[in-house]
Amino acid sequence: MNNIHPIFDTLIEREDRERRLGQKGQVIWFTGLSGSGKSTIANALERKLFEEGKVTMLLDGDNVRTGICNNLGFSLEDRKENIRRIAEVAKLFKDNGQIVLCSFVSPTEDIRALAKNIIGASDFKEIFIATSLEECEKRDVKGLYKKARLGLIKEFSGIDSPFEVPEKPDIKLETENKSVESCVDMIYQRLF
Ligand code: ADX
Repeated sequence: MNNIHPIFDTLIEREDRERRLGQKGQVIWFTGLSGSGKSTIANALERKLFEEGKVTMLLDGDNVRTGICNNLGFSLEDRKENIRRIAEVAKLFKDNGQIVLCSFVSPTEDIRALAKNIIGASDFKEIFIATSLEECEKRDVKGLYKKARLGLIKEFSGIDSPFEVPEKPDIKLETENKSVESCVDMIYQRLF
């Protein structure tokens, strides 16, 4: 049998999809502590791109950990599997020409390297939302730090589970004393 995958003859190329959409498929990966502002900034950036007519997809804990990853917890092993699945999903959308924004703690270099490896380095941009633990804990938007300090939540990133500061992010964003809008503008100017 010469051609065991005849469907490949009919596959639409990524370049054709990108030409149709008028954009380059890519993944913008936000990493940082819980409460650092990742999802807020990712949301606002997606809104800006959407208003420009770009085709986008936002993946974050709200739509992933309640669905495709709802059998996973917060051990490092489960976090790695969480990120592996997310990266595989992001890759599919990216290969479809979409701009995918992923907002996950993704706490270790090893876990982030896995995501980059799956997605492909040239299509992967790592944005480190560098809000300090002190500031995240002060904000404590979801009340989770208080619970973690009381021992009611275990393996909480930055408290009793590691968060390794990214060594070579594409963009490092200090959020303290900055508006969401100025954070978004900075990322936009660097990536688009
Ligand atoms: S990751 O480590 O696997 O990348 P992910 O971003 O999906 O984590 O989920 C983190 C979010 O889950 C936090 O923003 C917080 O709302 C919630 N959460 C619940 N338990 C924990 C925990 N033990 N550590 C960190 N985040 C937790």
